[in-house]
Amino acid sequence: MGGFHRSERVPPRRETNEATPVKITLPDGTTAWRITGHDDVRQGLADPRLSLNRANSTGGYSGFALPPALDRNLLNLDPPDHTRLRKLVAGAFTARRVARMRDSIQATADRLLDGLSGTVDLMAAYATPLPIITIGDLLGVPAERIDDFRGWTDALMTGGSRDAVVSMYAFMADLIATKRADPADDLISAMIEARDGEDELTEDELLSLAFLILWAGYENTVHLIGNSVLRLFDGPADTEELLRVANPVPFAIRRFPLEDVEIAGEAIPKGQTVLLDIQSANDASTRHLSFGAGVHYCLGAPLAKLELEIALATLSGRYPDAALAVPAGELKWRDSFRSRGLLELPVALTR
Ligand code: HEM
Repeated sequence: MGGFHRSERVPPRRETNEATPVKITLPDGTTAWRITGHDDVRQGLADPRLSLNRANSTGGYSGFALPPALDRNLLNLDPPDHTRLRKLVAGAFTARRVARMRDSIQATADRLLDGLSGTVDLMAAYATPLPIITIGDLLGVPAERIDDFRGWTDALMTGGSRDAVVSMYAFMADLIATKRADPADDLISAMIEARDGEDELTEDELLSLAFLILWAGYENTVHLIGNSVLRLFDGPADTEELLRVANPVPFAIRRFPLEDVEIAGEAIPKGQTVLLDIQSANDASTRHLSFGAGVHYCLGAPLAKLELEIALATLSGRYPDAALAVPAGELKWRDSFRSRGLLELPVALTR
């Protein structure tokens, strides 16, 4: 991927070279074991003794509280429940389906950039709408409802108002009923059709999956695109390098040991919260773990890469002279330990 005009260097990322593992206090006051380093994090991601199911927490983990109908999702399940669900959804979310989205993603990128000039906040004008429109297309949200869908999604992502949860829930349940009656060429219809012998997805599982795909697919991709545009002001980088250094997900989903475990020489008691530090793993290697590893490896990785590549190629193709409009040190970052992303990305666009 070509770079844009060089800017002063982007601010250094946090240092992650302390010994692994370290006991830390999370913003909610609970404690967690933080695992750093490439090998330990990669092993932890694929370790069957580390459960994702919140029911196995004994360390007071709070985290997001989703309504029960939305909680039966892949990132809160372990094998064998996870295996069954993942197989069903992977059969619907195929490489062919993703490849067929290329033209619509390109059309969205072109449309969003049409007419932009001067100083523009690229987060608001480009990096944010592109993934939400793409996920809406993927799931089969009708074009005339995309604005509603985006409004609820934004409300959910920025603190989760109850009204937005209720509206989104009703909307998704309705969408599933519509697709059941009148299937189309989209992921929800394909998930309704998905069968493994006698097995099929239940209503709660369908709803949870639609929500998870929306949730996992939206915000991470927004910030992957934003961080990558910023990184390209420092010079060219290919997709894998961008994923390594512009990774928006500092930590994997929290894990809870099913038994007392020893990781890197440290005994971690059963049920404690374990955080696998993906960013430190990336810093310590030329290879990245940004999409995780093992049975929970990101299901959306091919789509996220396709969106990233189209977003960057379209932007640099149209605006090869794009330049940061403020000093890199003045950029505002999200205040969240779960996400590394920009609040705004003011860029000067000239044709
Ligand atoms: C099109 C966009 C995306 C979709 C639809 C998507 C979807 C998903 C889903 C469904 C899972 C759960 C898989 C499972 O438990 O079996 C997952 C996991 C994951 N995704 Fe994505 N994702 C997207 C983009 C991204 C991006 C941009 C990143 C970061 C660069 C990312 C990082 C991850 C990670 C780290 C996991 C594993 C979490 C863990 O094991 O703790 N995803 N994704």
